[in-house]
Amino acid sequence: MTDENVDLEVRLEEQEAFEPPESFVEQANVSDEGIYEEFEENWPECWERAADMLEWDEEYDDVLVDDDAPFYEWFTGGQLNASANCLDRHVEAGRGDNVAIEWEGELGETRTYTYDDLLEEVEEFAATLRDLGVEEDDVVTLYLPMIPELPIAMLACARLGAPHSVVFAGFSADALATRMNSADSEYLVTCDGYYRRGDALDHIEKANEGLAGVDHEVSDVVVVDRLGDELEHSLSDNQHDYDDLVAEYAGASVEPVSRDAEDMLFLMYTSGTTGKPKGVKHTTGGYLSYAAWTSHAVLDIEADDTYWCSADIGWITGHSYIVYGPLALGTTSVMYEGTPDYPEKDRMWEIVEKNDVDIFYTAPTAIRAFMKWGAEYPQEHDLSSLRLLGTVGEPINPRAWKWYYKHIGNEECPIVDTWWQTETGGMMITTLPGIGTMKPGSAGPPLPGIDGRIVDVDGNRVESGNAGYLTVDQPWPGMLRTLYQNDDRFIEEYWSEYSDPDSDEWVYFPEDGAKIDDDGYITVLGRVDDVINVSGHRLGTMEIESAIVGVEGVAEAAVVGGDHEVKGEAVYVYAITEDGYEEGDELEERVVEGVLESIGPIAKPEEVIFTPELPKTRSGKIMRRLLEDIASGNELGNTSTLRNPEIVDDIAAQVDSD
Ligand code: WTA
Repeated sequence: MTDENVDLEVRLEEQEAFEPPESFVEQANVSDEGIYEEFEENWPECWERAADMLEWDEEYDDVLVDDDAPFYEWFTGGQLNASANCLDRHVEAGRGDNVAIEWEGELGETRTYTYDDLLEEVEEFAATLRDLGVEEDDVVTLYLPMIPELPIAMLACARLGAPHSVVFAGFSADALATRMNSADSEYLVTCDGYYRRGDALDHIEKANEGLAGVDHEVSDVVVVDRLGDELEHSLSDNQHDYDDLVAEYAGASVEPVSRDAEDMLFLMYTSGTTGKPKGVKHTTGGYLSYAAWTSHAVLDIEADDTYWCSADIGWITGHSYIVYGPLALGTTSVMYEGTPDYPEKDRMWEIVEKNDVDIFYTAPTAIRAFMKWGAEYPQEHDLSSLRLLGTVGEPINPRAWKWYYKHIGNEECPIVDTWWQTETGGMMITTLPGIGTMKPGSAGPPLPGIDGRIVDVDGNRVESGNAGYLTVDQPWPGMLRTLYQNDDRFIEEYWSEYSDPDSDEWVYFPEDGAKIDDDGYITVLGRVDDVINVSGHRLGTMEIESAIVGVEGVAEAAVVGGDHEVKGEAVYVYAITEDGYEEGDELEERVVEGVLESIGPIAKPEEVIFTPELPKTRSGKIMRRLLEDIASGNELGNTSTLRNPEIVDDIAAQVDSD
């Protein structure tokens, strides 16, 4: 390294606050600091600004109805269609030639869809679904990887007013069945397979296995042929080839169904404290306006930008910030099928350079991997098209933030570190890139109109500098409306900790710990429930545990998250064997297999530690925090409250020796 570079590294390392460059501020969609006050003074009417980003078939009567809180309703009386907002209106405005989706397959093939093309495909597939019998309010499950047919199917469902439930393609057959059962979903769109690191993966086999576990009749399954001759597969009676069906509807036109603002746009399952995933319900008016507004204000997206979010559409980030937000704004959204290091570790930067990407949004886990691979990979490419960078999904450590700032953004791009959740529908805590000072490691203040607070166990605000629990004390348009067919669990999961129902005060609790500084900047520390965050993916430890205790030979198991250099957290399993079974490689393999079968490779245990006992308190509760510390290699705190303190050293010795 040259002296100059060393100086630069030192300066960066010490710098704690960064200002957005003037060139960015000048062109930013939002650059007036007064916006925070404006939202506060005009609440809830301020949210008209979000609604104004959309085209409504019928104007709404009220911005917010809170008569039945926390079952809030937004933009009531309004009617609109999400696919018309993402497609038709851009075409009608003469922007049909703009590229909507720039897709790149893992093997290097590309597909470009202009807004004209995308509308055509969406109408054809909507006509197909309708012909199969899909009606308004039928839940259609989409079990598809990152191929263009996924957003096409989402928008086709939206056009018909049929909510979609996207199941991440990396999830197992069991996970698919659980979600289809929970949503009573009678339609499935899936594909034969897809590519991962150059290999053709069989997907239809997994889909079929999942279908075997669905406990009601599934009327139709549409199968996209992604692999062609590479994978032979047969279709059963109710299974149809996507291309064959769509060919029958070439040129079809399907009027978008006008939906009430509060009608469900989609369901998205996410992990919670119990073993059963939660079906988060998002609506048409509130969700879409919030996705569009935050894409405009935080991601600074404009119609002539090329924007790339590297998440998978199977997660909420992809829903809000690959599909709905960017397309509502009429921009070009890049979509990449594959892995970031295939065929080489510069694949991401090659895509940025080739497409002149203006805005790039990714996860800290990816940034830590890029960092590990080295700066030489981005250096091989011209990344000067970039104007703004973003991160989401987990806390970002200042070192990774600075690496991203320097090596990807060339110290010229602001970074937005955006805190939000499946349930919030869109971003909640982040700096606005044209306004705020950035502090690496801290997401920033809550967005205008968002009343984020850090409180102690009693709900009182903590003093700056202290840690506590994050709460949101006012509703916002993008919020979940309920858990599908489970209003009680909705109240219990999110509104029971800090609300006071007797005085009709409702406080949303996202189950994250956080701290706040003198400037009101929030640093999110992580989950305070039994959910862990592996590579930015939310996994319920209970879900993993129930998969493991189902394995023959395992009597009891505890799953915790331990620190991991790249993944943020990794899955650690502590297991007790059943009498008559031997601990060892074979059982370990079956434990891992059990997790893969019930959830999928994202939940694959980093380590399985066999132990004769789990550390428990005198009242019999497993001391998870202790197991987390062991997994993370942290110093162990006081163990005197344990019933069986001697077991801790035994377990720790085992982990150390591995
Ligand atoms: C975590 C992903 C710190 C947090 C959009 C939250 C973050 C959970 C950040 C939601 C961030 C997300 N900084 N932590 N910028 N963004 N999280 O539902 O713990 O998959 O509760 O939504 O991810 O995960 P989910």
